Amino acid sequence: MKKSLLAQDAALIAPLYAKADVDFVKGKGVRLFDSKGKEYLDFASGISVNALGHCHPAVTKAIKKQCEKFLHISNLYPNAPQIELAQKMLSLTKFGKEKGKAFFCNSGTEANEAAIKLVRKYFFSKGKNNKVEIITFANSFHGRTYGALSATGQEKLKTGFGEMLRGFKQVEWNNAEELKKAVGKNTAAIMLEPIVAEGGILMPSKKFIKTINELKKQSGCLVIADEIQAGFGRCGKISCSELFGINADITTWAKALGGGLPLGMALINAKIAECLKPGDHGTTFGGNPVACAAGLAVLEIISKPKFLANIKERSAQLKAGLKALAKKHKFLGEIRGEGLLLGIETQKPVADLVAACRKQGLLILRAGTNVLRFLPPLIITKGDVKEALEKLAAALR
Ligand SMILES: Cc1ncc(COP(=O)(O)O)c(C=O)c1O
Repeated sequence: MKKSLLAQDAALIAPLYAKADVDFVKGKGVRLFDSKGKEYLDFASGISVNALGHCHPAVTKAIKKQCEKFLHISNLYPNAPQIELAQKMLSLTKFGKEKGKAFFCNSGTEANEAAIKLVRKYFFSKGKNNKVEIITFANSFHGRTYGALSATGQEKLKTGFGEMLRGFKQVEWNNAEELKKAVGKNTAAIMLEPIVAEGGILMPSKKFIKTINELKKQSGCLVIADEIQAGFGRCGKISCSELFGINADITTWAKALGGGLPLGMALINAKIAECLKPGDHGTTFGGNPVACAAGLAVLEIISKPKFLANIKERSAQLKAGLKALAKKHKFLGEIRGEGLLLGIETQKPVADLVAACRKQGLLILRAGTNVLRFLPPLIITKGDVKEALEKLAAALR
């Protein structure tokens, strides 16, 4: 008998993920289908990647069109899809007005590596070699490479990997007083997720954001906002940090940015861009033209005001439904998040609830240790949310 896909995976793929026993063969819109034809409502979006769901015709068309031109030319020559995506992202964020620039890479962790290197390079170019420290926050997640992992505020992810990069300090989330004490003459940047996503959907308080912006002014440090999970429309605006009034000098992007293909980006303000020269940083594949064309197709759709308005409406609908379920089930707790990055606390084992939802044909995720996380495609309709809530209710029962 042929082994299941999960058994084949276990035999051949490094055991780095706790994978579920499903064999998806096709995706369409907000749904995935397994080999037996079972349908799943995908409220995970490949972890915040598939903003337009699966196989959106605009994305498929853009990919096909670019594939017929060229797949890769390297960063030794300008490529039009990169320029168009940069222009659109700059125009949709404050970086356009600030005459900022884009750096393209392949993933979220690489975007954060770039951000870390570029703030240090900026101060180096100003003769301030002491300014190398980066303040980040407990429970944050910035990626798996050494720089981004050093920035990450979760000890369990660092255990066993030896010494982390020097110059990183983690402060309690939303603790303005602790942050004030941590920022000093050697601080190069404060780096934060506008919403701590993987770490449990933790929202920033208004006071906390005000403190970050004030510290930036007072100390001259820079601010890096990691938009990788929360940005790109998911919160109802292209930039989540701008939605919350965080005055960032660098924003980092990935996940949905490539329309389902690997793509990362850092938007940097003019003063940082001015201190860079060829050779300071780089990547072979970064800003791949096919990924940029796919990302641009997504951005053209999600940046429309009507599209963004639907995100807010579906968010309110999903929040209201979760609230009703929390009233019924005492093991459910606080509901947190913005737009279509939502979570609800639970006292029952999260993995069991995620599995129970999957059985009902609903894909959701975990965040932190005790939060169910919902990251549906941004194209969801009123009917999709209603269906998801029904499936969730059945799973909870
Ligand atoms: C906020 C945030 N930053 C960085 C990353 C790392 O991105 P990647 O997995 O593309 O390296 C993630 C991934 O989950 C993330 O959620």
